[in-house]
Amino acid sequence: MKLWSYIFSFIAVAALALAVPALAQDKGALVKERGSIMKSVSGTLKALDKSAKSGKVGVNDAARASKALASYKKYTSLFPAGTDSSMIKTRAKPEIWKDWSKFEAQAGKLVTALTDVEKAAKTGDAAAMGAAVKTAQGTCGGCHKPFRGPKPK
Ligand code: HEC
Repeated sequence: MKLWSYIFSFIAVAALALAVPALAQDKGALVKERGSIMKSVSGTLKALDKSAKSGKVGVNDAARASKALASYKKYTSLFPAGTDSSMIKTRAKPEIWKDWSKFEAQAGKLVTALTDVEKAAKTGDAAAMGAAVKTAQGTCGGCHKPFRGPKPK
């Protein structure tokens, strides 16, 4: 009987020892994923802007637009409580969680704009795509200003 309680407490301690660093690592991975989504959306919009200006919109543009939309749709899900700049290395200000509905609304604006970008890219409409790209690029500051802080040291 006693042996079992030793085994159980050993398992409990081992699980805890594994869980604590895993949690810290998870947060780092989340921040990395946020960054890579933002960078890829940013890069995609620049590339699509070029295509729109050239007047040639192809299947590659449509594929890139779809990818950007799909990845950005999950952006706000990468902001669980406990991942702001007062706790970990990130540019995400605590204000995000104080005004979550505004944060979601700003993200929603970019999702809507990226949906329009995708639609225009799929129909090969360069003018509509160019306009939608501009709208998408117009949403960045509305979120960065209140919610993005300086780069962590
Ligand atoms: C809903 C809010 C929101 C919108 C909209 C938004 N961003 Fe961001 N962005 C953030 C936050 C928050 C961070 C910092 C995240 C972190 O450090 O964990 C960030 C970080 C970034 C970064 C730095 C990535 C890195 O880690 O190096 C770039 C680049 C960026 N955004 C580009 C853009 C562009 C371009 C747009 C518009 C097309 C945009 N963002 C729209 C919230 C937003």
